[in-house]
Amino acid sequence: MTQKLQHILKAEQFDRNLLDRICNLTDAIRKFAKTKEGSLYLKDLLPHRQAMLYFTQPSTRTFLSFLSACNILGMRTSDIRDSSTSSERKGESLEDSLRTFSSYVDIIIMRSPIAGLCDRISHLLDQTPRPVPIVNAGSGPDQHPTQAILDVYTLVRSFREWGELENKTIMFVGDIKRGRTVRSLSKLLTHYKKIKMIFSSPKEFQMEDDLRGFLKNQNIDFMESDLFEKFLPDVDAVYMTRVQDEYDQGSESKKVDYTKYFLKHEHLKLMKINSLIMHPLPRRNELDLQIDHDPRAIYWRQERNGMWTRVALLTILMQVDHQILMPDFHHH
Ligand code: NCD
Repeated sequence: MTQKLQHILKAEQFDRNLLDRICNLTDAIRKFAKTKEGSLYLKDLLPHRQAMLYFTQPSTRTFLSFLSACNILGMRTSDIRDSSTSSERKGESLEDSLRTFSSYVDIIIMRSPIAGLCDRISHLLDQTPRPVPIVNAGSGPDQHPTQAILDVYTLVRSFREWGELENKTIMFVGDIKRGRTVRSLSKLLTHYKKIKMIFSSPKEFQMEDDLRGFLKNQNIDFMESDLFEKFLPDVDAVYMTRVQDEYDQGSESKKVDYTKYFLKHEHLKLMKINSLIMHPLPRRNELDLQIDHDPRAIYWRQERNGMWTRVALLTILMQVDHQILMPDFHHH
């Protein structure tokens, strides 16, 4: 039942089966990591493999969580965080640069401002005698599939106590247009039955037609609105985002009143007692610091889940997942 996953490029690659498997793997990995024997077992899975972290767009948590995930599995790592120090500066094409990196490593984890670069590189490498898996750790405003997976894991785990992720109402708030985490997560959520999604954003940052078309095609119950507070009493989870002004063409973000999409401390009393407050981080002012103390605020846990779900994804890509979850393993 192990599914083959050659690269991780976009949310569309994941079905419910695979998502369930990733959640179970993550739970199992966390159990292993609790003991010294378990940690040593994990560390002994991939000491013969090397990962390249190619992060030419700013990153703190995604970079560190992948780095930590590699370390947990005993992988060696190398990184490029600034393309100005590589031969791209000598006029080398990105294709040639990445093919070069691929000669020294067994997997490339990449974040780039260029949407579609991972797809291009994975196709290129697939035609070479030594293809290595490519992981999309954020592709411009387009997608961020591994973030979406840690978000799903966080939702599934948190809702386990009050039923399932099925039937829940999730509200995405803020820059829906350019927020790649929202684009990827909303696609993954389509695999959960009777889920409802609300997209609350300024008119200027409404979703693009491609995502709208995707959700309609999947017959998803979703709504778009420029209102925010009004929906707070109805939602089971609110997913806050910062304005993605690094993608401004001019200074359009400055012209929008984003303060209407801030979650403030006084909003908490409007929300259900069992609801969740999420944020992919980094935050600016859209999430009041005082909210951190509320039990519904789960973004720090969400961040930490990122490392564990990335360990799970690496075990699948490097084909050692069966050494963690036996094929007939059932998690309770
Ligand atoms: C997000 C991203 O890079 O898209 N950050 C992250 O990876 N956790 C969200 C953001 O930058 O706003």
